Amino acid sequence: MAAGGPGRSLYRTAPTRRLPPTLPGLEFAEVVRRRRMVRTFTDRPVERPVLDGVLDAGRRAPSAGFSQGTALVVLEGAAQTGPFWTLTAPPTAGTASGGRWDRLRHAPVVVVPLAHRQAYLDRYAEPDKAPLGLQREDAWSVPYWLVDTAFATMAILLAATDAGLGALFFSLGGGEAELLAHLGVPAGFEPIGAVALGWPADDDPRSPSLARGRRARAETVHYGRWSPPA
Ligand SMILES: Cc1cc2nc3c(=O)[nH]c(=O)nc-3n(C[C@H](O)[C@H](O)[C@H](O)COP(=O)(O)O)c2cc1C
Repeated sequence: MAAGGPGRSLYRTAPTRRLPPTLPGLEFAEVVRRRRMVRTFTDRPVERPVLDGVLDAGRRAPSAGFSQGTALVVLEGAAQTGPFWTLTAPPTAGTASGGRWDRLRHAPVVVVPLAHRQAYLDRYAEPDKAPLGLQREDAWSVPYWLVDTAFATMAILLAATDAGLGALFFSLGGGEAELLAHLGVPAGFEPIGAVALGWPADDDPRSPSLARGRRARAETVHYGRWSPPA
């Protein structure tokens, strides 16, 4: 993110491990290209200014009606992340998971992105939105509270890459209700998964899923229409 030059980026607030502090951030295309899920981290903590910069990228994400119904619970250090892993790891963790949870639980930071449906229903009951008739959940053809929380999470993943951090978005292995109670999350907030964050270790294995290969543009992008008219 070179726009604005060094120190001017929206979320670059501290030097990174991989880039000297005198350089501006990565170019956007480079951030997109380099982003990948990282599952193995060093023991180095993530300094709060770096962390806040990454989280701020999530706060910049768009939201329907600017409802901003996303919340982030941020767990730092083993004392906070330990209970997260205990409550959410599936019973098979460490065996059937190929050690995934064992590696992940060393992440110095875990972020739990939460979607607040009621914030959207309330927002769309306001005078400028009320004519749309979206005050009721069943009127929404797409649950934008989940979409927006995913947008915020993606911004966090990209900002983490830009800061030289590694990050993994992953699904919770269970225990959502227990986790929310443990964290004191108010009723009505729904976790969409979690993000592990930290400084990437050198020996991080790539996801076996990547062996599937990336689909060609022509398989994903359909210009004009999907297929020729019959
Ligand atoms: C919605 C979603 C859920 C995912 N859940 C997991 C997960 O539970 N565990 C995991 O190791 N990776 C998970 N991934 C990561 C994907 O496997 C990964 O994004 C994909 O293989 C492409 O790899 P890359 O992101 O490194 O390019 C998830 C990704 C997404 C978008």
